[in-house]
Amino acid sequence: MSEINNTGFDTICIHGGHSPESNRAHLTPIYASSTYTFDSAEQAADIFKGTEEGYIYSRWGNPTIAEAEARIALLEAYQLKDKNGNALQLKAILHASGMAAVITMLLSNLKAGEKIITHHSLYGGTHEIIEKILPGLGIEAVIVDFHDLNKVEDTIKANKSIRLMYIETPANPTLQCVDIAQLSALGKKHQLTVCADNTFATPYLQQPFKYDVDYVMHSTTKFLNGHGTAIGGIVIGRDIEKMNGIVTKTHRLLGGNSNAFDAFLLTNGLKTLGLRMERHCSNADKVAEFLHAHKGVAVVNYPGLKDHPDHAIAKKQMRQPTPVLSFELKGGYAAGVNFINKMKVCVSAVSLGTCDTLISHPASTTHVGVLREDRLKFGITDGLIRMSVGIESIQDIINDLEQAIN
Ligand SMILES: Cc1ncc(COP(=O)(O)O)c(C=O)c1O
Repeated sequence: MSEINNTGFDTICIHGGHSPESNRAHLTPIYASSTYTFDSAEQAADIFKGTEEGYIYSRWGNPTIAEAEARIALLEAYQLKDKNGNALQLKAILHASGMAAVITMLLSNLKAGEKIITHHSLYGGTHEIIEKILPGLGIEAVIVDFHDLNKVEDTIKANKSIRLMYIETPANPTLQCVDIAQLSALGKKHQLTVCADNTFATPYLQQPFKYDVDYVMHSTTKFLNGHGTAIGGIVIGRDIEKMNGIVTKTHRLLGGNSNAFDAFLLTNGLKTLGLRMERHCSNADKVAEFLHAHKGVAVVNYPGLKDHPDHAIAKKQMRQPTPVLSFELKGGYAAGVNFINKMKVCVSAVSLGTCDTLISHPASTTHVGVLREDRLKFGITDGLIRMSVGIESIQDIINDLEQAIN
């Protein structure tokens, strides 16, 4: 599909990045090969020098992985233009996990003595990298409320060594949304590298490159794969030279590469991204409405509801709100445990973004080892339930919730 930039989003989901196969396979096969052969010593030299295209070693690149990378880059760039008015070109590098993608991006852009500015509600693993790994390398984080833009700018001005702004919106697990356009403009004004974790939105709901960010990261484990079949992560960048240079070098040397099987699962999952997100989102809207009206539920955290503090931000930058929400049962811890035990259709599991509705009770699972007073500070109350709304028939999800809450 040479005219891929002019097609619709769903066509890119299906055909984007696909190259015809020498054996005429319909789908790009799983290239389960660690290494690649050369016709001659001269050809090997040319491929190593980069004067001829070709694969060398699968930690560096693999045809099945390349298709997933090209497709996701096209989706993030969908209908966006560069500063010369041409179709935006992006380069993506697939990783073994979302965490591998995040650390590659950070280590490619920061060195000892430099700082990162970020906000409170990041995914726990990313927060731990910033708190526990980066300081040992001489890289400190300054954490501020990204809703307070004056504070963000004052902090940047007061810390001349801040080089990178790290945004996650909507954030895991709070669903806090921050304004990518305003934050990115501030970051650019002060020559910062701006990065956004787009895992909860996917390019179908939100395109951070529209607001000039430098990098987008995903845990592809979630909605991009969509079926819960493989862990993965991706870094997408707009500076192609840098992506081919330091980012590729860091990725190859850290060794957090993906593999052909996981990439195959991802590429096939991506085919239905637009369709799935439509259904995920319409189901989530109905679930939020149901929970909001239920007498057993104290609070519903869902940016799609008008009374959510970030409703306006989500509306401004997202096609629809993310299909992940949380809610607090009035009965506290016991109600949370009871609710999970009564589920019949929804599945009790961590993670999110699969076709199945996934439900978790953080107080008895992910946060069981955290002191109660500490988790309450992060809004993880005794009766809080997190829900990644799946694509089952909506009435079955609602019936399951109804019988489990009562
Ligand atoms: C927003 C976000 N970023 C990054 C990650 C890390 O991804 P992975 O678990 O694929 O390493 C996660 C995982 O839940 C996440 O929710």
